[in-house]
Amino acid sequence: MKEYDFVVIGSGIAGLSFALKVAKYGSVAVITKRKGADTNTAWAQGGIACVTSDEDSFELHVRDTLVAGAGLCDEAVVRTVVTEGPERIRELMELGLQFDERDVSGHRELDLGREGGHSKRRVLHVQDVTGKEIEETLLRELRRQSEVELLENHMAVDLITAAKLGFAAEDRCLGVYMLDEKKGEVETIRSDRIVLATGGCGKVYLYTTNPDIATGDGVAMAWRVGAEIANMEFIQFHPTCLFHAQAKSFLISEAVRGEGGILRNNRGEDFMKRYDARGSLAPRDIVARAIDAEIKRSGAKCVFLDITHKSPEFIRERFPHIYETCLRFGIDMSKQAIPVVPAAHYQCGGIKTDMNGATNLPGLYAIGEVACTGLHGANRLASNSLLEGLVVAHRAAVACIDIRSGSKQRISLPEWKSGDVQDVDEMVVIYHNWDEIRRLMWDYVGIVRTDKRLQRASARLRNLQREIREFYWNFKISVDLLELRNLATVAALIVDSALSRKESRGLHYTLDYPETEDRQFKGETVLSRG
Ligand code: SIN
Repeated sequence: MKEYDFVVIGSGIAGLSFALKVAKYGSVAVITKRKGADTNTAWAQGGIACVTSDEDSFELHVRDTLVAGAGLCDEAVVRTVVTEGPERIRELMELGLQFDERDVSGHRELDLGREGGHSKRRVLHVQDVTGKEIEETLLRELRRQSEVELLENHMAVDLITAAKLGFAAEDRCLGVYMLDEKKGEVETIRSDRIVLATGGCGKVYLYTTNPDIATGDGVAMAWRVGAEIANMEFIQFHPTCLFHAQAKSFLISEAVRGEGGILRNNRGEDFMKRYDARGSLAPRDIVARAIDAEIKRSGAKCVFLDITHKSPEFIRERFPHIYETCLRFGIDMSKQAIPVVPAAHYQCGGIKTDMNGATNLPGLYAIGEVACTGLHGANRLASNSLLEGLVVAHRAAVACIDIRSGSKQRISLPEWKSGDVQDVDEMVVIYHNWDEIRRLMWDYVGIVRTDKRLQRASARLRNLQREIREFYWNFKISVDLLELRNLATVAALIVDSALSRKESRGLHYTLDYPETEDRQFKGETVLSRG
């Protein structure tokens, strides 16, 4: 059994920021299931929304966030994240991150991008590779810390709690079982401060802008030990994912629309004006639904994002990554419109926490996309998530450093026991189930929902979960099996949450209840196994 003062699971912006902050105060393990940089953060293109300009104000950023959140944001959390943001951004810049600047009458200023739902330009960015730059900056700094062990190719299997071990006292998190993928062995990790920073669950859907790691591991693990899970029905679909047979999960940043890109249907019409006065820059839920309706109405496979009215120099300078990637697929975005479709992008709900990342289970924290702090409500404002990751990671670090509690006596945790049958023929079942979940979630639990489709999804998922459980206890565990188990759990949580919200609000839109119903539903959907 290994022991650490702090254990962080996940290596995106939230996990790494937390690890860097606590490194001075004790031993830290950062567990990550692929390479350190294989995270959602590294794929973020748009940037970080933060008030830095004289033309902007905290009040406006708060208001925009509350409007996007459709009545479900926790205003105190919104104010905290917005007002503490600039200090966290300064720290990031001190680590060497350089956001893009521009010349304004002879002096340099931050070049601020604009995205849907923002009333001002306020998105700090590094061209269109902001997340990659942030990830590299934080990882570089982390590798300098002697107190931090970065455990790549290690996957958390299950949390260990006092209740699971049969202790009579108050339940708390005591550790985690971790699969060392290379050795194929499960190790036991003991810690009084376990921080889940595992990101979201885009892979639960057939089409997503997320990388392969986004399999909902944190939510599924927390659920299994009785943590509260909130607002999982609010899955954000990004309106513009590249539509191309060979392109897997490639996002076309909202910043393209922020710089004047226009959505057109297969007849070349600027159709968004028919759906919302804000046109192509309306909030994401509205744009994604409008595209879905246009595609269904016309029978076309996609719509098109047109920025050809901007100069090729501007496009190549501002969006080098998107430009080059599209070109590789034979699309020159300076000359032709980009074919796009909506795809699952962000989990607005998650493990319910306070604004310091604390869950209802002592010793267990959740930060970043895996958590539901109350910032996003029913619909996340674009580029607010990296900011939340920084701010809440800082607050969680302060809270964890302050905690002197935790059990004083040495607790010995039991070793992992695993079935060891490995039948290669059965591997096909894992892949089949994986595909089935993603397809059924896309078809039945997508942008527009109905009770009937949700019930169908629910029934099918229960069967799949039964099959997967059987596998799990009999077979030698692997990353594929663990991810499948987590995906199935998270899919069921999304469906159960969606079924319990009998109204339409923000990202949850159902034909059976098309109106928002404040009297009954102006609150979070909270599920808990306990
Ligand atoms: C984008 O670049 O469009 C993504 C930004 C975000 O999801 O916040």
